[in-house]
Amino acid sequence: MKTVLKVLVAALVPLQFAMAHIEFESRIPNGDRVPNPCRDGAVWSDDKNPFGFDFKAAGQQWTADLCRKDSDGDGLTNGQELGDPDCVWTVGAAPARMTGLSHPGICPLDSATCKNSWTKCPKAFSCPAMEEPGVTVRNFTVKPTAVPTYEKMHLCQAFELNNTASPVHMIGSRPIMVNKNVIRHMVMYGCSQKPDQALFDSPQQCYMGSYPNCIELINLWGEGNEGECFSRFSGFRVGGEGFQYGMLSLKPAKTNGFINEAGLSIYFTSNLRPHDQGTLTYGELELILPPRRTVVNYNHTCPSVCTRSFHSETRYITAASIYMQSYATKGRLSLWRNGALVQDLVPLHAYEYNVPRVLLFDPPVEYRRGDEIKTECYYSTKGNNHSVLFGYGSNDETCLSFMHYYPNNIHLSPLAKLEFCNSIHGYNPCWNDTGITPHIENGCNITGLITGDGLKPVYMAMWRHQCFVSMGCSAACQEYMSNTLFPSNACFDPKRSLKALEYLYIRYHSPLSHQAKGYMNSMYPILKSCQNQIETLALLDQARLASKPAVNPPAVKSIPPADCNTGKPHEEVLTSKNLLVIIVVCSCLVFALLAAVLLLVVRIRKLRLRDSPTKLRNEQDEAGKEKVYNAYG
Ligand SMILES: *[C@@H]1O[C@H](CO)[C@@H](O)[C@H](O)[C@H]1NC(C)=O
Ligand SMILES: *[C@@H]1O[C@H](CO)[C@@H](O)[C@H](O)[C@H]1NC(C)=O
Ligand SMILES: *[C@@H]1O[C@H](CO)[C@@H](O)[C@H](O)[C@H]1NC(C)=O
Ligand SMILES: *[C@@H]1O[C@H](CO)[C@@H](O)[C@H](O)[C@H]1NC(C)=O
Ligand SMILES: *[C@@H]1O[C@H](CO)[C@@H](O)[C@H](O)[C@H]1NC(C)=O
Ligand SMILES: *[C@@H]1O[C@H](CO)[C@@H](O)[C@H](O)[C@H]1NC(C)=O
Repeated sequence: MKTVLKVLVAALVPLQFAMAHIEFESRIPNGDRVPNPCRDGAVWSDDKNPFGFDFKAAGQQWTADLCRKDSDGDGLTNGQELGDPDCVWTVGAAPARMTGLSHPGICPLDSATCKNSWTKCPKAFSCPAMEEPGVTVRNFTVKPTAVPTYEKMHLCQAFELNNTASPVHMIGSRPIMVNKNVIRHMVMYGCSQKPDQALFDSPQQCYMGSYPNCIELINLWGEGNEGECFSRFSGFRVGGEGFQYGMLSLKPAKTNGFINEAGLSIYFTSNLRPHDQGTLTYGELELILPPRRTVVNYNHTCPSVCTRSFHSETRYITAASIYMQSYATKGRLSLWRNGALVQDLVPLHAYEYNVPRVLLFDPPVEYRRGDEIKTECYYSTKGNNHSVLFGYGSNDETCLSFMHYYPNNIHLSPLAKLEFCNSIHGYNPCWNDTGITPHIENGCNITGLITGDGLKPVYMAMWRHQCFVSMGCSAACQEYMSNTLFPSNACFDPKRSLKALEYLYIRYHSPLSHQAKGYMNSMYPILKSCQNQIETLALLDQARLASKPAVNPPAVKSIPPADCNTGKPHEEVLTSKNLLVIIVVCSCLVFALLAAVLLLVVRIRKLRLRDSPTKLRNEQDEAGKEKVYNAYG
């Protein structure tokens, strides 16, 4: 279930996503009043600017140093430009001056002392197609409503999309927003069946993308975005055999308040474009970014076996973007054919959550059957003390890419044409749905895990290395795992595919054979316990090395493993440091067991995965509906 939400929630992120710095506006004096030479409104220009960098370096706070600095070099300090000449302003207070403001990061366009790195203002949103004959606009706005108090809730309202007997193409949209800063993002989903009447009457609280019959993304909007303008080659079909109903899903920016009028002006043309358009969502849905790392990297590839099997034709990509959040540092999206790079769709670039890139392709990029698309995500968790997980909160992360493509076969469900190609701990369910074996990802033979053939030799080796002689991780077992198993077997290496194996084992409806489950039942607690022990020892080693760049051999390593039954190590001298290791190791074993049990319980409740693909393709019946729903969850 959770995964259903994730995949579909993933879909909410607009292609032209531009998260405005609304949350930061309040942290600088006159944050919401500073004129932007290019566009009235936000203090933050569409381009990165020197003040933006300085603000970030100052920890996104208005400090005296930042105030006294002249970020853009125009001769005025940031404080003078922002109406706090004496650098005394604090958050919430009234600035000394509220007029005569100028932008602290952008030189006046006619400045003699400094030059902006750009010479022209960024182009404003323009979509000539919206003015063409045959184009009509209709507004879809939610009825006035209170914002849900629970942060993760969205608001959903259903609409009838078509008002003509003959089909039209949706070609773009613009946001409608009466109160600024109330909505964070909006998505219109196309529905394959009519939603419940209650959803037409008034907005309902919902989780993003939680309606199984409404999953095709047809409109995307995010803060700072002025609209969407689809390529001249394609549009989303509405009416006729296309969508008749849509579900508008809004994510409020705050947990209290009121939405007066918000929604989308959607543009339709009766002069149908040559092709029907679709949206692709690719990425990894289970990120775990460890704390205090300067670089954490995740790559996702939509495998060739999947595109060969699910695509019946060459596709053409008209737009692409990567979506990550605030820990992201770099990103790249690339197209590969027979193992060789064809081209970058989004070249490797310094990624700024606030300054997203949506690249439009005219002519469109050819995406053939069997091609692979690779999303690379890089993060830094340097300033973070806790792990960052996949999610949409401000402390979560994502690694997703969105693409528009044509031709979209509107008779197939989004799942049957692989519009969502997402992995879970590096395991791509689409591969299994092709029925092609062996399934080998990231060096791990997943087919072997499922049959148990790949588990048996490891199980035997664990016996030989005394892994089953006692509870927890024996010395010999730990030695075997850290020196042999982890380095040589990708399926068991925590840095490679161990998470995928765990996922297959503990998920609801585990696909593991009876034999494979038997092996895992014995191996799993020991594996986790040893993994924890190895990681704890490594951490202690690290900490010790950092605190004392010692000449002595590492004390921690020389301690024989503690005997948890007696609580004593096999060594005469029991130093406090040794004691610490014993405590850590022993408690770690108990913790590992508890964690394993808990994880099992939680996961069984939360996770489901795709059912048979052939059943999936048959969505006509009630059972079919359930299958589509389960397909992501
Ligand atoms: C649709 O909304 C836009 C923006 O709020 C407004 O200018 C326009 O008049 C509306 N059109 C209709 C038909 O209500
Ligand atoms: C919308 O399209 C459907 C299918 O073509 C059609 O039956 C229906 O009458 C249309 N709705 C309106 C309001 O024209
Ligand atoms: C991700 O891809 C990049 C570029 O191909 C490569 O350098 C990097 O090692 C990959 N990272 C992982 C974790 O596989
Ligand atoms: C992280 O931990 C360190 C050391 O315990 C502490 O000094 C720092 O304030 C913490 N940082 C955050 C963001 O919690
Ligand atoms: C993967 O495992 C399957 C099932 O055990 C086996 O038949 C196949 O030969 C293995 N493939 C490789 C390349 O190891
Ligand atoms: C693969 O698909 C089959 C049948 O469609 C299903 O029974 C099995 O659980 C799936 N295996 C995995 C690993 O998802």
